[in-house]
Amino acid sequence: MVKRAAGALLSAIRIDHDSPRLLATQITSSIREIILAGGLRGGDRLPATRILARDLGVSRTTIVEVYERLISEGLLEARTGAGTFVSETVHIGDNGAVTGSPEAPKTEKAVARPPVAIGAGFAIRLPHTIRAFTTALPAVDMFPVAQWTRQSNKHWREQRDLVLGYGSPAGFPPLRRAIVAHLKANQGINCDEDQIFVTNGAQHAFHIIASMLLKQGDKVWFENPGAIGAQNALRAAGGELVPLPIDSDGLDVAAGLADAPDFRLAFVTPLHQQPLGVTMSLERRFALLNAAENADAWIIEDDYDGEFYYGTHPIPTLKSIDHADRVFYVGTFSKTLFPALRLGYILAPPSFIGILNHLFNTWLPSAPLNSQAIVAGFMDEGHFATHLRRMRRIYTERYQVLMRCASELLDGLLTLKPTDTGLHTTGRLASGLAENTIAEAANDAGITVTPFGRYAMTPLDKTGLVLGFSGVPPEDIEQGVRGLARILGAELAQQQKTSRLDISS
Ligand SMILES: Cc1ncc(COP(=O)(O)O)c(C=O)c1O
Repeated sequence: MVKRAAGALLSAIRIDHDSPRLLATQITSSIREIILAGGLRGGDRLPATRILARDLGVSRTTIVEVYERLISEGLLEARTGAGTFVSETVHIGDNGAVTGSPEAPKTEKAVARPPVAIGAGFAIRLPHTIRAFTTALPAVDMFPVAQWTRQSNKHWREQRDLVLGYGSPAGFPPLRRAIVAHLKANQGINCDEDQIFVTNGAQHAFHIIASMLLKQGDKVWFENPGAIGAQNALRAAGGELVPLPIDSDGLDVAAGLADAPDFRLAFVTPLHQQPLGVTMSLERRFALLNAAENADAWIIEDDYDGEFYYGTHPIPTLKSIDHADRVFYVGTFSKTLFPALRLGYILAPPSFIGILNHLFNTWLPSAPLNSQAIVAGFMDEGHFATHLRRMRRIYTERYQVLMRCASELLDGLLTLKPTDTGLHTTGRLASGLAENTIAEAANDAGITVTPFGRYAMTPLDKTGLVLGFSGVPPEDIEQGVRGLARILGAELAQQQKTSRLDISS
């Protein structure tokens, strides 16, 4: 069957550059409307991202993001080597409704919350390819696999009844105890074992907490730019995110009180704001805790990389000063061990122990017991603490390589912000360089740099790039900086040429 070309239809999309809506959001909505109105049908081919970007006068990264969003909604599908097509399963009925494939049951009426079901309005996940400068990755190349395997084998031999059974739904008791000891020793938190609930990662924890606390449409204060997985987990639980700016003290609490005094939940990364890297000041922490207490609201503290500090003292957590018990502290083993474990935990205020036990004991899936037992053994025998110390040394070295190479090669192009915490840093681009254009060119050269805009819910007043260093071996960091220098230099030269031409014409 000859498929229709979609190019002419899509290049007529109107973009409102004065709108506060992101370009990617505007274009996604327009293409979605065209498909739903029957303008494009199952199997129609979309123009290549580069062509549509040129026709619409936007960056290719924007169009890549648009296509990714529509793919995640199931409206488009990517076929390797062939391009992007309207999903074959999309059929528009006579009344203009999406019906799915003719054989498929009509489920849309059954879905109580369609935006949740099709993921509309959800942020696109970041790529996790292991290369310079992908963010949020631990050094998987340095993971002590042999030690882990020994620990694992031990459980198969000695504790079969434990690791092959159902176990305790709220978490393997020795792991809950080990987490309590870790939080006390490292994060300044005193808590009881029964406040710990083990989950399948931090994102799962955010969703459990939000599902318990929120009614559909309840307001959630959220850092803008902010953590992508958390945005989606809270939206999926029915939260209406209220984007709040970040200044040098962290989340702007005054803006929150002005925009949504009736908030129900606030989501923060106080130790190391994701992605800007700001540490929330003590004054702002108290302001946030007071605001939550006054509004009878709750706070999620996402401590995703707080174990990685490169000075002498860890930064105190928000939870450690939470005297009114408003904070749900969430930890993850994705950075301290490895993401594939899918293990995280909630440290709940004591007043929620009963209801969380009820949830975990009645219907929530518990985290794999075998992995929990391995982690518990790893922690109890001191390997976890040794591993963290070793990783701090490795990340310090990787960070130093990045800063040294940047000072040699990126001067006048990209200014990296010094950091003594976490697994990534940020960079300010020389004037005239656009974050999306650079990210796109870098991606073509096999380098990941993530624009601030990827984490944004509404337009930001600052631009820049996020560069992860922890998961990248030193030689790849060096090569990555060289590649980036070439890209930035070429782009800057092009900008200068264009502006000279503009002046002389
Ligand atoms: C801000 C933030 N929180 C938490 C996590 C960890 O999520 P999970 O435990 O679901 O892997 C990440 C991972 O990248 C993150 O960036």
